[in-house]
Amino acid sequence: MKIIMLGAPGAGKGTQAKMIADKYSVPHVSTGDIFRANIKNGTELGMEAKKYMDQGLLVPDELTVKILLDRVAQDDCKNGYVLDGFPRTIPQAEVLDKALSELGEKIDFAIDVNVPDENIINRMSGRRACLACGATYHIEHVPPTQEGICDRCGKELVLRDDDKPETVKNRLEIYHEQTQPLIDFYTEKGVLKTVDGTVDMKEVFNAIVEILGE
Ligand code: AP5
Ligand code: MG
Repeated sequence: MKIIMLGAPGAGKGTQAKMIADKYSVPHVSTGDIFRANIKNGTELGMEAKKYMDQGLLVPDELTVKILLDRVAQDDCKNGYVLDGFPRTIPQAEVLDKALSELGEKIDFAIDVNVPDENIINRMSGRRACLACGATYHIEHVPPTQEGICDRCGKELVLRDDDKPETVKNRLEIYHEQTQPLIDFYTEKGVLKTVDGTVDMKEVFNAIVEILGE
């Protein structure tokens, strides 16, 4: 099963993608997580990506596409995956489409987690992320057991550099300009499904399971 998560920054793509990955035993592939891991490890790719990410801009397609195609070519992706944060532009979607059709494959579902802009800023300022294992929390909605410490791996939780309100505003603008057109792209392919992302995260997940099947 090959799934794409669509939605504004902070819509809950990562939260839902992790739950999907657990239930359906497919890898969770997040380009944002891959970039953040590279930044943390000080790689060349990380340094390049950081320049864009800190301003809320998209990392150029040339860099992003290669990383994603390498990742989904790995063995653990043979039976499918859930893509979180990719594609984010029409050219990225076209490259993915072409790569898949060359293998005789296709995306099964593109799930749009729909959350209005008003809700997003609050979510982002309350989010805390573990840069070591990728887990995400929210100081009100999903607090860790011990403040500032990751439940999963015990490392310190941080406010992501790009979660500051002024950067979030940029990310939202770029989302509407460059990523939202993907909704039409996948509607035309007949695979788009929309879920209400403003409700409790378990309810969002139930709606997704109804789409994907038990
Ligand atoms: P990326 O890491 O993909 O960030 P994003 O799309 O901006 O999305 P987020 O991770 O911020 O939000 P999310 O939808 O995953 O929400 P989450 O589940 O955490 O990308 C970061 C940057 O990398 C980009 O800006 C770009 O520069 C670069 N990049 C990445 N991919 C790229 C690509 N393909 N091309 C070019 N550049 C790329 O939830 C948010 C918060 O809300 C959390 O605190 C969570 O606990 C809480 N929450 C979730 N669901 C609910 C709910 N139902 N109710 C209440 N709270 C909830
Ligand atoms: Mg995310």
